[in-house]
Amino acid sequence: MKLTIIGTGYVGLVTGTCFAEVGHQVTCVDNDATKVKLLQGGGIPIYEPGLQELVQKNVAAGRLSFTSNTAEGVEKSDVIFIAVPTPPQPDGSVDMSFIERVARDIAGAMTSYKIIVDKSTVPVQTGDKVAETIKRYCKAQVEFDVVSNPEFLREGFAVEDLMHPDRVVIGVRTQRPVAAMKEIYTPFKAPIIVTDINSAELIKHASNSFLALKISYINAVSVLCEATGANVQEVAAGMGMDERIGRRFLNAGIGFGGSCFPKDLSAFIKISEQVGYNFRLLKEVQHINSEQMQRFAKKITDTLWVLKGKKIGVLGLAFKQNTDDVRSSPAIELCQLLLKEGATLRVHDPKAMDKARPLLPNATYVEDMNDVAEGCDALVVATEWDEFKKLDLEKARKGLSHPIMFDGRNLFDPQEMERLGWIYKSVGR
Ligand code: UGA
Repeated sequence: MKLTIIGTGYVGLVTGTCFAEVGHQVTCVDNDATKVKLLQGGGIPIYEPGLQELVQKNVAAGRLSFTSNTAEGVEKSDVIFIAVPTPPQPDGSVDMSFIERVARDIAGAMTSYKIIVDKSTVPVQTGDKVAETIKRYCKAQVEFDVVSNPEFLREGFAVEDLMHPDRVVIGVRTQRPVAAMKEIYTPFKAPIIVTDINSAELIKHASNSFLALKISYINAVSVLCEATGANVQEVAAGMGMDERIGRRFLNAGIGFGGSCFPKDLSAFIKISEQVGYNFRLLKEVQHINSEQMQRFAKKITDTLWVLKGKKIGVLGLAFKQNTDDVRSSPAIELCQLLLKEGATLRVHDPKAMDKARPLLPNATYVEDMNDVAEGCDALVVATEWDEFKKLDLEKARKGLSHPIMFDGRNLFDPQEMERLGWIYKSVGR
């Protein structure tokens, strides 16, 4: 099918590329001409495992192209996906100006029937607003359908998640666009659920909020584990074997971050408020998340006492592994807390150092993770990168003035660390 994706951020670029990979003819539109040029030349603006190869392969096969001209994108395809940012505003509500702008642009360029699909994460009832906007700004009397098709990919696993989705959600107002939407997704061999638009929009916010709740739940349990001498990983393993609960997203740590969970939680709380419901449960999820970070920082100050004049090595800056994204990263927040207390930092991340530099301009950036501990008073693990498990512990121990490690992601085994002579503090164990 001929498909156009407007917006080449994480969601838009990965979606467009995977659609091309399964054989669709895809045009990706972005108003950032520099980005379009980079993509046309085979580069990609983000780090995402497997994405660059897939972009290059599909561009070479003639199935994937990039343009900064929205009208051209609308003209070329029958189905137009909107995948532009919906950033948070200071009061927690969502800034819908990018979506509204794109809806107007699409309306202005439409000359025949189009299916307009929203992929961005949006508040419930956005579909109605998009339909109203398109109707208002459409030059001719052109028919169209608006569809909600939320995306569930995780950064760092985006290609994998998109190629093998657990489910595809299609929210519609009429049956007319259903066949085309199903045809687009048939190659992905995933279960498809067709709902009304409001339900589809709610599925996304409700899912992300539930996953955030799951993380806060296990983080709260980790506090009990620490107070009683239990081990949160064993508790999570035992809970997770119940199929109704599941083991995933039960990793205790320094809390969740990123561009989705914190923003979507705030938005969901705000939307609830607007329809007269005080979603106290989710407010508590937020509260537990920020407390979790404070509690971890306190572990560091309790042990090192005074941070002023101390040098701390930090492994991890990205908001999680397999990404260079540092937006709302708990690791960055922790670094900022340590800096505020007067510590100096030596930091390393396998992919996120360039993006972290503007946020932590005074830190020393170390290329090799095995050199981070050199001359430091303690080592902190802040992101769950798998490769940190291969840290040369002997070299790190020798580099530190005292062998102290604060592991905010439970990457190492406490007993083994103790055996190796470390003063080792992790979360919930
Ligand atoms: C999240 C959802 O998982 C995706 O399904 C959704 O599509 C996406 O938001 C979105 O709305 O676009 P993402 O933010 O990329 O994906 O990352 P996650 O893997 O969900 O991790 C979020 C945060 O939770 C990270 O800081 C991670 O370290 C933390 N986390 C995750 C934990 O602390 N414990 C866990 O067990 C799992």
